[in-house]
Parts: sequence; C-alpha cells; structure tokens
Amino acid sequence: MPQIRASETTLKVLHLEDSEVDHELVRRVLARNDETFELQRVESLDDFAEQLKTQHFDIILADYRLPGFTALDAWRVLQQQSDRPPFVLLSGAIGESAAVAAIKMGVSDYLAKDDVAKLAPTIRRVLELHAIRRAKESADEELARSQKRLAEFAEHLQATIEQERAAIAREIHDDIGGALAAVRFDLSWLERHASDEAALSHLQSAKDMLGHALDASQRIMKDLRPAILDQGLAAAVQWLAASFTKRTGIKTLVQASDSTRLIPKAVQLVAYRTAQEALTNISKHATCDLVHLELSDAEDVLTLEVRDNGQGIAQAELAKPKSFGIRGLQERAKTVDGWLDISSFENKGTSIILSVPLPPSAGATNQETD
Ligand SMILES: Nc1ncnc2c1ncn2[C@@H]1O[C@H](COP(=O)(O)OP(=O)(O)OP(=O)(O)O)[C@@H](O)[C@H]1O
Ligand SMILES: [Mg+2]
Repeated sequence: MPQIRASETTLKVLHLEDSEVDHELVRRVLARNDETFELQRVESLDDFAEQLKTQHFDIILADYRLPGFTALDAWRVLQQQSDRPPFVLLSGAIGESAAVAAIKMGVSDYLAKDDVAKLAPTIRRVLELHAIRRAKESADEELARSQKRLAEFAEHLQATIEQERAAIAREIHDDIGGALAAVRFDLSWLERHASDEAALSHLQSAKDMLGHALDASQRIMKDLRPAILDQGLAAAVQWLAASFTKRTGIKTLVQASDSTRLIPKAVQLVAYRTAQEALTNISKHATCDLVHLELSDAEDVLTLEVRDNGQGIAQAELAKPKSFGIRGLQERAKTVDGWLDISSFENKGTSIILSVPLPPSAGATNQETD
C-alpha cells in the first residue's frame, strides 16, 4: 500500500468519536497502510476545542452524531482557528443530503463508516487538496500584498514627481525669471541710451528673443506646477485646452461649468493631469481635428471626459511595455478612489473618462479644499 503522505513525518490525526470500537477500527485501517501516525481520540466538544488550542493536527476525522452535539458544532469551533486542518466526516447514518450540506459548508470530505477501508486514499486526497488550497491562498495573499505595495509605490512616485515639478517651477521662476527680468531692464536702459541704427536693430531682436524666452518659461512653469488650479479646475482645464489648440491647431470644445462644490485639491490635480496627458496623447497619436473636453460634478461624482475623433487605440497599444501615460493615469485615479474608463473604436476616435466620487455637497460654497 502507498503511504498516505510522501514524507516520513508523523501524521497527526484528531479523531472526534464516542465509540472506542470505531476508533480502534480507524487505528487498524491506518496501521494497515503502513503509516506513521498519531491518532488521538476526543469525545466532548470541550476536549475537542482544548486539543485544537494546545496541539497542531494535520487532519480531523469526526463522527457526525455525538452525545449532545454534532460534528457541525465541532466544525464551528474549528472555524475560530486561523490555520485550520482539513475536517473529514467519518460517520454512520447521516444521509447523502446532510453530507452534501456539510461539504457545502466547507467540510473537506465525507466517508461512510462502512467504507472505512477507503480511509487512507480519502485522507491522501484531502491532504493533497488542502495543500493545493493553502498554496493558492498564500499565492493570492502574496499577490494582493504586492499589488498593494505597487499602488503605494505609484502613489509615492506621483507625489514625488509633483514635488519635483513644483521645485523646478520655483527655480525657473526665481532664478531664470529673475535673470530675464534683469536682462529686460538692461536692454531698456541700452535702448534709451543708444542712438546707433545697427545697435538699435540688434537691441530689438534681443528684446524679441527675450519675450520669447519669458513666454516659454511661463509656459513651462504652468506645465510643471499648475498654479492655474488656484483659479479653479474649470479655469485650469479651459487654459489647458486653449494652449493645446494654440500649439496644435486642433479645435477643442470645452464644456466646463464653474462649480460651487468642494473639490479636494488632490482630486483637482488628478483631473488636471488626466486632461494634460489625454491632450498630449491626442497630439502625439490621434491624428484628429476635433476634441471635446467635458467636466462635470453632477450626482456627487466628478467626471472629466476627453474625446477625440481620431484613429482610436487598439487594445494591444494600451499594453505597450514602454508606455506609461495611461497606466499612470489609472494609478493616479485610484489614489483618489476614482477610476478611468477608456473606450475607442477604429477610426471613430477615443474617449478617456475619469470618474471620482466627491464628498457630499451640503454647505459647499468653495471650489477647493485640502
Ligand atoms: N487619443 C489617442 N488616439 C490614438 N491612440 C492613442 C491615444 N492615446 C493613446 N493612444 C495609444 O495608446 C498608447 C499608450 O498611451 P500612453 O499614454 O500610455 O503611452 P505613450 O503616450 O505612448 O507614452 P508615454 O508613456 O510618454 O505617455 C500610445 O502609444 C498610443 O498608441
Ligand atoms: Mg502618453
């Protein structure tokens, strides 16, 4: 006969049984299978609970009807334990339907006492299934842990990026902005004191170039740190759309009514960055001539939709290993308990919708809160 378990370790069995005769029968069957086992009998619910508390068992065999209780009461006691061994009903008259009901509750298996000869293969099967279930549970737990770590890391990364961006924007403002302002002052001085035609013409082109540099640093600062958000999300989104149209020539229709709702700053930033990335994607990938940008906060949900009439995204494109824009938006949405819906049809365009549940609106008069 094959061993019940491949390893040589002792199989520890707890037997809930009021009949000494039946218990001895189980012992003989297991011994016949050449198994190294320790079989311990209990017959009261209290003893059963006590043994579970003080010892580790590999498997529990339980008679169904015992004096004053049933195996299902013992099963409930077992449920209070976190690391539970498999529980097999080894019983006389219980009836097929009761056995099925017990297995539905989670009892590992049922074996009639008349079939006790099949105990070894039953135990073997139950232990194998138990090991598989445990391995799956621990893989699921590990997966959930690593997903959580990844989400935390993404959140941390986004926060770091925002801080970096704000720091660079400050540098541009204080350092480059300051230097450009000083240059402008000096150029104006030179302009007032120069009379030479050629020098004046060079001064003019220097002033033009300076104007260009000032515009560019303003634009870069706004991209880096959306100070425009201080004027509210609707204004910020309108500004994004206007500068997108100016840069790309693509017509953009904005529907963004000014809200009287409390929109947390973190949510505003997520919505702003979503619109920004969606518009960047449109300019890079869509090949379109019309964009709709809609912002609404109806029914306690902030929704931002950016829709184009371009070539659409194929499913495979979303899984490109080196593309992080949309994946980043999905992670960002989760940081404020929101989500992103992407729908697209070939040559019919793409729609990206961000939805974020908002706090209840009662008494809200401000546009933003921390
Ligand atoms: N509006 C759009 N129209 C058509 N295709 C799009 C659109 N937006 C995204 N795509 C497709 O989906 C892909 C993934 O977009 P995603 O923003 O994640 O990455 P990316 O723009 O390629 O790179 P990045 O990481 O710089 O954002 C794009 O490479 C492009 O093929
Ligand atoms: Mg992108």
